[in-house]
Amino acid sequence: MKPLRMGLVGLGGVCGAVHYPGFSRIPGVEIAGICDVDQGLVARRQQEWGMSSGYTDVDQFLRQVQPEAVAIATPNVHHQELVYKVLDAGAHVICEKPLGMNYPQTVEIYQRAKASGRRHMTAFTYRFVPAMNFLRHLVRAGELGQLRHARFQRLQDWGEFAIGWRQYKDQAGSGELGDMGIHRIDFAEDLLGPIQAVCGAARQLVPRDQRPDGQACRSQDVEDWVGWIAEFSSGTTGVFEMGKLTKGRGPDGGHDLAELNGSEASAVYQLHTPHQILFARRGEPYQLREVPGEFLKRAGSPRDPGEGDPVRTFRCDQAWEFVSAIREGRECVPSFYHGMRAQAVADSILEAVASRRWVEVPVCPA
Ligand SMILES: NC(=O)c1ccc[n+]([C@@H]2O[C@H](COP(=O)([O-])OP(=O)(O)OC[C@H]3O[C@@H](n4cnc5c(N)ncnc54)[C@H](O)[C@@H]3O)[C@@H](O)[C@H]2O)c1
Repeated sequence: MKPLRMGLVGLGGVCGAVHYPGFSRIPGVEIAGICDVDQGLVARRQQEWGMSSGYTDVDQFLRQVQPEAVAIATPNVHHQELVYKVLDAGAHVICEKPLGMNYPQTVEIYQRAKASGRRHMTAFTYRFVPAMNFLRHLVRAGELGQLRHARFQRLQDWGEFAIGWRQYKDQAGSGELGDMGIHRIDFAEDLLGPIQAVCGAARQLVPRDQRPDGQACRSQDVEDWVGWIAEFSSGTTGVFEMGKLTKGRGPDGGHDLAELNGSEASAVYQLHTPHQILFARRGEPYQLREVPGEFLKRAGSPRDPGEGDPVRTFRCDQAWEFVSAIREGRECVPSFYHGMRAQAVADSILEAVASRRWVEVPVCPA
């Protein structure tokens, strides 16, 4: 089989932890080129990954490497411009979340990608947690009955120092909502269908005007905490809470929970036990249930679910989904459509917070 020539743009945290390990383990995928505006990081990645060349200019990278597919993992403000450059170069694209800075921008990105005929994917990584695969199956098989209500929580402690580009609206779009909330919007919609209306609250709790090395920096202008209530079109209600300053929840105590309460049974996903769920039928307390083998990874994925730290390794299945969609000539799941959908909900939450009222989520273009 002719190797798929993959390019990586933005070589920081998530590229090193998720994209490179994901793509480099897939047989028939070649990491053909890497690019980052930080020359020192390019040199470090070249050494770590045994790459003979690396680029700091994306136009030159696309012209010279001519990748067939590209993973974009830069700060959010650059996603739109880079997605357009990659599509114009004729390549398929997987882009990090949030897909854009706001809902109107994600509509444009989705429509441009759709018109290109190339494959497009939003990196909603948590869809690939084995426990999430199993929960999705249980919901669709009707094992929980009619879904009545649900709760989604992501609570961590990132400390009170500056956290780089993530703390500025002009680079990130929003704070905790776009960073952690957007994943939960996406998997809530994956499990329960579209969110129709939201109300919420958000808080910026600390200034983050000092870097970890003691240097002063510009104060943050985004939220550290956000909570919202959602009404799904199905009639289910959901309560969501995300926070970056939750003492007791970090660095290894990060809490990520989705609990679904149906007419027949309840089930709980927790990121820290990705190979188990909690499950209870009517009248029973929760019991641990092992995720069956068929849900421990995506079909055909080259990953061994028994190898490595299961809290980390599932993330590689995201790359497998992207490559499989290219090879099979089908849409990726989740695609840019889902990136746009999640942003429609996120912008509605921000509007609800600002106006202190319920907001209807706009209907997205197909
Ligand atoms: N899916 C997930 O689970 C997940 C996890 C973490 C981060 N993310 C997302 O991934 C993206 C990157 O986050 P990160 O934590 O890796 O950030 P990071 O700051 O660690 O890395 C970003 C890299 O992009 C580079 N960069 C900036 N502008 C660029 C440009 N124009 N062209 C090329 N490179 C450029 C920077 O030099 C940096 O090395 C963000 O959109 C973030 O929301 C997603």
